Amino acid sequence: MAPRIALVSDIHLSRAKPYFHANWEILLQELAQEAPDLVLLAGDIALDAPHREDDLVFARAQLDRLPAPWRAVPGNHDVGNSIPDQRGEATVTEPHRAAWLRHFGQDYWAHDIGDWRIIGLDCLICGSGFAAEAEQAAFLEQAVTEAAGRQIALLYHKPFCAFDVLETEMSQSYWYPSVREMVLRLMRDGAVRLCLSGHLHESRDRLIAGIRHVWAPGVAFVQDIAGEWLPDRHGRRRVGYMMIELAEEPLMTLREPSRMLNIDIGNWLRKGIGHYGTLAGGAPYLGMMPEGWSAIP
Ligand SMILES: [Fe+2]
Repeated sequence: MAPRIALVSDIHLSRAKPYFHANWEILLQELAQEAPDLVLLAGDIALDAPHREDDLVFARAQLDRLPAPWRAVPGNHDVGNSIPDQRGEATVTEPHRAAWLRHFGQDYWAHDIGDWRIIGLDCLICGSGFAAEAEQAAFLEQAVTEAAGRQIALLYHKPFCAFDVLETEMSQSYWYPSVREMVLRLMRDGAVRLCLSGHLHESRDRLIAGIRHVWAPGVAFVQDIAGEWLPDRHGRRRVGYMMIELAEEPLMTLREPSRMLNIDIGNWLRKGIGHYGTLAGGAPYLGMMPEGWSAIP
């Protein structure tokens, strides 16, 4: 029987600022019922780790509560966003990445399950010039070469592109065009069949140039559910997760549990990502910290 995998993304956990913690608790209960063989986390596990490492510490401890083995890749709120910055936010640094390595282990990896090899990538270091960028590229090459007939799925935080792998617009929503070649060459060779990502808090399942690109919904929140100001990406703005039956042709089922809260933080982001940084990172939590929480870093 094909393995059953839960694809989970953007849970944004924080001990200091647990804005979205209720959805995490509901997710844990849902996954206990689903009993997946594996949980894949597509990044943004922390609320704002570049400003508060304890978010990583807390999030990592929370993952021990998952009812199945798990693998995770970092997101921009775990290690910082791609270089160059476009929006005035924390970008990836070697110390931020080192914090991820300390708490979560390697940020790129291969995991074999059923007839598939899942390769996790840290898309935030692409274009960074860090030594790890070249090491990851070499690792990817080797992991594909040694797949021994297994089908290959990639897992990374940001969607590879909006609609077209050759589009040239540079946006922090997607892989920068200048760094796509590492994966594009594998796509041209037919080596990759499935690409899994998170980041946009929208779910979508689309064939692009013959390769299936699946966007996981966010667990924590949505943005602009009414479609008033964000660009239309043809995604669905609801919280939830995906169940994947990893057969020869993967079967995707979108789960949107009725108990989860569709919290819309569009009002934070419409003012610019800096507003997220203030509320998630610097500002006191609602100005009313419960007793005993004020000492938390
Ligand atoms: Fe993200």
